[in-house]
Amino acid sequence: MSQKLKSEIARRRTFGIISHPDAGKTTLTEKLLLFGGAINLAGAVKARKAARHATSDWMKMEQERGISVTTSVMKFNYRDYEVNLLDTPGHQDFSEDTYRVLTAVDSALMVIDSAKGVETQTEKLMAICRMRNTPVITFINKLDREGMSPLDLMADIEEKLQIECAPLAWPIGMGKRFKGVYNLYRRQLNLFTPGQETRNQDILTIESLDDPRLDELLGSQADELREDIELLEGAANPFCLEDFLKAHQTPVFFGSAINNFGVRELLDAFVELAPPPGPRMTETREVRPDEEQFSGFVFKIQANMDPMHRDRIAFLRICSGRFQRGMKVRHHRIGKEIGLNNAIIFMAQDRSNVEEAWPGDIIGLHNHGTIKIGDTFTSKEPLRFTGIPSFAPEHFRRVRLKNPLKVKQLDKGLTQLAEEGAVQVFRPLIGSDWILGAVGVLQFDVTMERLKNEYGVEAVYEGIDFAAARWVDCDDRKKLEEFERKNQANLARDAEGNLTYLASSEWRLGYVQEQWPEIVFHKTKEHC
Ligand code: G4P
Repeated sequence: MSQKLKSEIARRRTFGIISHPDAGKTTLTEKLLLFGGAINLAGAVKARKAARHATSDWMKMEQERGISVTTSVMKFNYRDYEVNLLDTPGHQDFSEDTYRVLTAVDSALMVIDSAKGVETQTEKLMAICRMRNTPVITFINKLDREGMSPLDLMADIEEKLQIECAPLAWPIGMGKRFKGVYNLYRRQLNLFTPGQETRNQDILTIESLDDPRLDELLGSQADELREDIELLEGAANPFCLEDFLKAHQTPVFFGSAINNFGVRELLDAFVELAPPPGPRMTETREVRPDEEQFSGFVFKIQANMDPMHRDRIAFLRICSGRFQRGMKVRHHRIGKEIGLNNAIIFMAQDRSNVEEAWPGDIIGLHNHGTIKIGDTFTSKEPLRFTGIPSFAPEHFRRVRLKNPLKVKQLDKGLTQLAEEGAVQVFRPLIGSDWILGAVGVLQFDVTMERLKNEYGVEAVYEGIDFAAARWVDCDDRKKLEEFERKNQANLARDAEGNLTYLASSEWRLGYVQEQWPEIVFHKTKEHC
């Protein structure tokens, strides 16, 4: 058994894509799934995104098609590897889930638009990867268009994301002059034919850059490539696996997702370099994936897949041991044993009952209101995985009830929605309102829709003059009390009773932090 466990772990890769909207995440995802043999999927990921853009009433659409659960985890095989690609929602469905998904992966793939360089959402997502030292592989996309020079792109990444770049491939020209990519380590030339979406590309192994075939194939660009490579040998960082695994360095690839160019190379390197599931910290000890005991934690809850049954699915990442259908596990927070008979596993387009799963895999559990984000399940030992936090909200709304008699329902609804991570709720120290906080504004629409449909609460939002939040604490009780007294108008308690400072702007937050050096302002908060 332990040998089987070890080999299943070794062949698993669980990752997410980080990118700014429009960099090419959807296109790349589709190509990766195509290589993974989910051929009938061509167009499906794209279609979902297009439909979502086109409709304002996206909730209904999700309900009707049950799509988002199946695309939340995309499992596929590639060579001998089992790959779990976790969706990191972008565009208008950017939310706290996007951040939290990154706490459940072992590595990330960063997609950068070659014309735009590093953009804001990528910076935010990289900050989350940095929290757990998640190794990141970079794919610079859209080389078939004019963009920034490769050196400038790498300098931009190094400067904005504070990570060293090590090119593993080098592009030859760009835009109309884009000829292909030279693989620096395999010394192979991969030639680009525009519009060719096939899986097989012309790959030529070049023993030396002096090879005259280079001139035949690339014309004057052969010399440009030679100069670039010479320059790189002096200037660029050599790739170091250890630095990559420590998240100090990112290997860089170039290509064009839409043309399926450079994607296979990327995927080959990804499965070879990216780490298998590793150990994870709990409050009491580190858990190794090859421990016989089953353990896992919930990082996402997806609701409303079936409005008739208020179906909710909790996504659990397996951290150690083997999952078997029907096994009994302890739900430690509520102190109960539960049988996992109907857990689901997500294949590219389907979901089906899972018989067996291994560390790195994601399984879906039916949740009837007893599962919270951060909950840990194990076969025996009481454990609590750490590092699945809440993230400081950036958008805020005040909730006003239309019917004051529904106060109880509102309280219940908001408390449950907060437990599921759909939205964060705060009670100001002064007044009796609810203030909602979110990382992405769509979370507010989802919350309102669910309050109405699931809890029968009619409410409206009012704008509120807050733009940043931090959880606060201080070792010195007296100091904290003084802070509380003097800042009452800006303080609230979250769903778990933690004191939170709400600021009207980042500037104002910085100012208060300077004024109160003894108070610690936290950008993330562990669930408890
Ligand atoms: P996202 O999920 O990161 O938001 O990006 P997505 O893949 O949807 O790509 C955004 C746009 O960039 C799409 O164009 C897509 O076709 C285009 N794109 C992706 N990869 C490449 C590439 O390698 N080269 C070029 N030139 N374009 C690329 P769109 O016009 O928004 O959509 P569509 O009409 O093409 O579907």
